[in-house]
Amino acid sequence: MPTVLALETSCDESAAAIVRDRVVLASAVASQVEEHARWGGVVPEIASRRHVEALPQLIEQVCRDSGLALSEVDAVAATVAPGLVGALLVASVTGRTLARLHGKPFLGVHHLEGHLASVRLGEPLPPGPHLVLLVSGGHTELVRVEAPEAVLRLGRSHDDAAGEAFDKVARLLGLGYPGGPAIQAAASGGDGQRFRLPRGRVSRPEGGFHPYDFSFSGLKTAMLRLVRSLEAEGPGPLPLADLAASFEQAVADVLVERSCRCARDQGLGTLVLVGGVAANQRLRTLLADRCRRDGLQWRVAPLAYCTDNAAMVGVAACERLARGCRSAGELGVAARLPLEQAGCLYDTPAPF
Ligand code: KG4
Ligand code: ZN
Repeated sequence: MPTVLALETSCDESAAAIVRDRVVLASAVASQVEEHARWGGVVPEIASRRHVEALPQLIEQVCRDSGLALSEVDAVAATVAPGLVGALLVASVTGRTLARLHGKPFLGVHHLEGHLASVRLGEPLPPGPHLVLLVSGGHTELVRVEAPEAVLRLGRSHDDAAGEAFDKVARLLGLGYPGGPAIQAAASGGDGQRFRLPRGRVSRPEGGFHPYDFSFSGLKTAMLRLVRSLEAEGPGPLPLADLAASFEQAVADVLVERSCRCARDQGLGTLVLVGGVAANQRLRTLLADRCRRDGLQWRVAPLAYCTDNAAMVGVAACERLARGCRSAGELGVAARLPLEQAGCLYDTPAPF
């Protein structure tokens, strides 16, 4: 079983982990949210600088916590796409340098392949293909997984990602950044049925709707209108708990409804939830209730591995390594790369 040092700096979390197959020997995350909260969102330049400062200490920490020296790992892995280029470069250059110095193979990992692998850090999955609902700050996708390297995207958002919608609506409600945890906290005790909000659908040019696609821009606009009309009614405080709960309910409803429908249509018996928004309690509960009712099995990534971390990158890298994948030494980073093309990260010559 290979042991891998994995690094992750694609957005605003610096992270390192040492993973043996599917066992996390050590994992450390340094979040930058407080710094970015001042600006209401991620500032790429600040993110890169903070990664440069944090990563060496995180690597020291995971070596200490696991009791392993870098010479004892079998490979070094780093997220190389997609993400903020300046941020990705920090883990990529650090990982490639360490791999070279210690004579180890280097693996560039696709960030979403990491999120998909995060569920394998929890309870084992039933055998066979399954459907994954991947919901993060940058992506909302329904992915059919036949095997870790055989994936097919069946649904996506046409505008904001689910996490992005949480972040923007939190800003509208004055709840701060990142929006997901802030909305979840504000929604506690709120009435999720108080405000009727749209469940956005995406039209097809030939008529009808994309059955598995998402749109959150209408919901965002509806929230803005609702807040403005409540403000116009009088000077009292906004009913924040009910607003946050109704918004959460609208997002969770569409995600769960379309995922279950897709799983059923595709004949897939297991639905998997991963990504930062998978940390949302209302979504986790709604998904579990609905799967139970529909006779589907379900798995949710462990809470600690929903938002960005390096352990999930390590699991994906261990699986790639076991299949003989190695990245070219000169592999760079890319802001965008569809998940289906993740295999190109192990091509020679390097794709970028
Ligand atoms: O996966 P992630 O850490 O980074 C990306 O790859 O984008 O996801 C971050 C996103 C943010 O938009 C954040 O607001 C959202 O996940 N998030 C949540 C919760 N925790 C984080 N959304 C809803 N409820 C949460 N508890
Ligand atoms: Zn992520």
